[in-house]
Amino acid sequence: MTDEPRARILIVDDDADHNDLERDAILGDDDRCSVAQAYSAQDCLEAVAKSPFDLVIMDYTLPDTNGLELMQQIKKMGFDFPVLMVTGHGDEGVAVEAMKQGAYDYLIKTPDQGFLDALPLQVRKVLKQHRIYLEKSRLEEKVRETKEYLEKIISNAGDAVLVLDPSGRVLSINPAGHKLFGKKAENLSTKTIFSLVKDEADCENLKKALDSEIGETNRIDIKMRGAMDRTLEVSVSSSMMEIDEKPQSVVIMRDMTEMLNMQRQLVESEKLAAIGDLVGSVAHELNNKLGPILGYAELMQRSVKDEKTRQRLRVIEDSALRAKSIIEALLGFSRHRKPLRSLFKLNKVLQDALSLMEFQLKRSGVDLELQLGQGLPEVFADSVQVQQIFVNLLKNAYQAVQPQDHKTIWIKTFERKESIFFSIRDSGVGVPEAHLNRVFEPFFTTRKFGKGVGLGLSVAYGMIKEHNGDITLNSKEHGGTEVTVKLPIGGKPTRARSPERRAK
Ligand SMILES: Nc1ncnc2c1ncn2[C@@H]1O[C@H](COP(=O)(O)OP(=O)(O)OP(=O)(O)O)[C@@H](O)[C@H]1O
Ligand SMILES: [Mg+2]
Repeated sequence: MTDEPRARILIVDDDADHNDLERDAILGDDDRCSVAQAYSAQDCLEAVAKSPFDLVIMDYTLPDTNGLELMQQIKKMGFDFPVLMVTGHGDEGVAVEAMKQGAYDYLIKTPDQGFLDALPLQVRKVLKQHRIYLEKSRLEEKVRETKEYLEKIISNAGDAVLVLDPSGRVLSINPAGHKLFGKKAENLSTKTIFSLVKDEADCENLKKALDSEIGETNRIDIKMRGAMDRTLEVSVSSSMMEIDEKPQSVVIMRDMTEMLNMQRQLVESEKLAAIGDLVGSVAHELNNKLGPILGYAELMQRSVKDEKTRQRLRVIEDSALRAKSIIEALLGFSRHRKPLRSLFKLNKVLQDALSLMEFQLKRSGVDLELQLGQGLPEVFADSVQVQQIFVNLLKNAYQAVQPQDHKTIWIKTFERKESIFFSIRDSGVGVPEAHLNRVFEPFFTTRKFGKGVGLGLSVAYGMIKEHNGDITLNSKEHGGTEVTVKLPIGGKPTRARSPERRAK
């Protein structure tokens, strides 16, 4: 007992001589113990209230109450000392009852030396048992605290934490996981994690990642189906562990969708800025080269007498002028060209542009429905740019009606609230919902290679904004498209916003 901590023992026995004998027997065995003595239940309760004990040796028969009652009263006071019940010969029933009520052990009092010999051994045994009990309770408390602490960390983690069995069935999932997968997470106890993976290849990758050695961690990036059927780009880190002697995978999933989208947008906008600069400088060079072509075509028309040659020269001049206006549109896109404004009649400018395309439209069976507003005020804008916008939109409408049996394009001009509008509606294929946000993006196109570069709408958008106007596109897949352009009647030009900021 020497290396064990000092124990405080209380002996409760109304027989003072026997009480002393018990004390001597205990101290004789271990003088490091301290022994207090009580001679009645009342004495005992007073002593217990003053200071705690490591063991109470209690005689069952006491003058004011019996041992079982006393045990209850001590318990009621909130103490949980181990009790060694001392009973008379033939009181084994009492001893059993005492054990049931929480006594650690009992000892039968015999008139001979046997009882006093056995007492110290029994004391030692009970103290040891109690120490083990206390240590076990302390460890259990520690385990409970650690478990609570870990549970708190996992349930407050920003990443989804899942525990999977070897078949991929989800055994547990934290709140972040529920948030990530929404309603789908609720069914995961019956389904496997693979039901949330988007495609076969990613499923295979996840299976490989889960099938790791114990203690090994695997990391992969996959696409998954998230809450509200959103596609998630998820970074998965999986470790194999043995829990309750069964292999289980602890999987941490981080939603990278937003961050990757931002990264892509950044790359995209840097790419667009670089393309814008490139387009600007190429357009500038081409513009310079067109100068002599236009100049000589005009000069030669003056000197040449032959009408056929003059006509051919006019075709060269017209084509060069058209090329020039496209180059100007490109310069507009790369923001190298400011609009040259003048007052003009919108209907006239649109009709001029239409006359260039009318033949081609009619030839391919397009019905043109014109509804031009009468008495519209003049527009203060760059007429070449307005024509360019109109032609771009008309070209889009023309391309959209091509696959249809009934091809109709409606062109309308009208005035509303200090602004003049023109709209082009078609009975074409319409824009799928997924593309609606993107049609104004520069270089967004669904055309076949060589049939479009995806600049029509973004150039139109840039020019219209430069005019302080507006452009809206309403469309339904298979239900046709209407693009409406708003031009202000007068007013000073304002600084343009970049086309890529347009998100409809
Ligand atoms: N009237 C329309 N009907 C259906 N889809 C359209 C219509 N107008 C535009 N779009 C869609 O928007 C995309 C972008 O149009 P935009 O005019 O900017 O470029 P593009 O026509 O593809 O090429 P470009 O005009 O440079 O020759 C088109 O590829 C098409 O998918
Ligand atoms: Mg186009």
